[in-house]
Amino acid sequence: MTSSSAKVSAERPFYSLHADPYDALITDPVEPWVDAIHDRLVRTHRPQALILDAVCGTRRHAAALIAKGNQVDVADGSRELLSRARRRCPAARALLVDLCAMDLDTRYDAVTCRGVFNDMTTDNERESAVASMMTTVN
Ligand SMILES: C[S@@+](CC[C@H](N)C(=O)[O-])C[C@H]1O[C@@H](n2cnc3c(N)ncnc32)[C@H](O)[C@@H]1O
Repeated sequence: MTSSSAKVSAERPFYSLHADPYDALITDPVEPWVDAIHDRLVRTHRPQALILDAVCGTRRHAAALIAKGNQVDVADGSRELLSRARRRCPAARALLVDLCAMDLDTRYDAVTCRGVFNDMTTDNERESAVASMMTTVN
């Protein structure tokens, strides 16, 4: 893990030590977000897409995307969040990554990413994250 946000993600108590209450505190509905992505994929003739949910947290969005028939791999910089949320979608391939420097062997129909840019404190880091995500898309 090289970026500052990835280092913080690995150590931040909310994402590691106290990851259990995450879902009790983050309760904004996933449906509008997931519906918009799924509808866009259907419109572009990918109704059952292969999606990377980058910075998946507790897999709230990944589970909803899977329920719509997509295949989803999940990625995050917090080993604890990745591991604790496994039961929510156990079949999803889980990847421990630095979002700013992903080097993955798979190319995806879509990469989703919600709620991380506020964890990044520099434009350089945000630009690296976008560039890194672009390398994973078909
Ligand atoms: C606010 S949470 C959002 C999680 C999820 N997308 C959601 O909406 O519930 C931010 C997530 O970004 C992850 N994260 C932050 N910086 C990261 C980085 N550079 N690389 C990988 N994951 C990172 C954290 O571990 C955490 O799971």
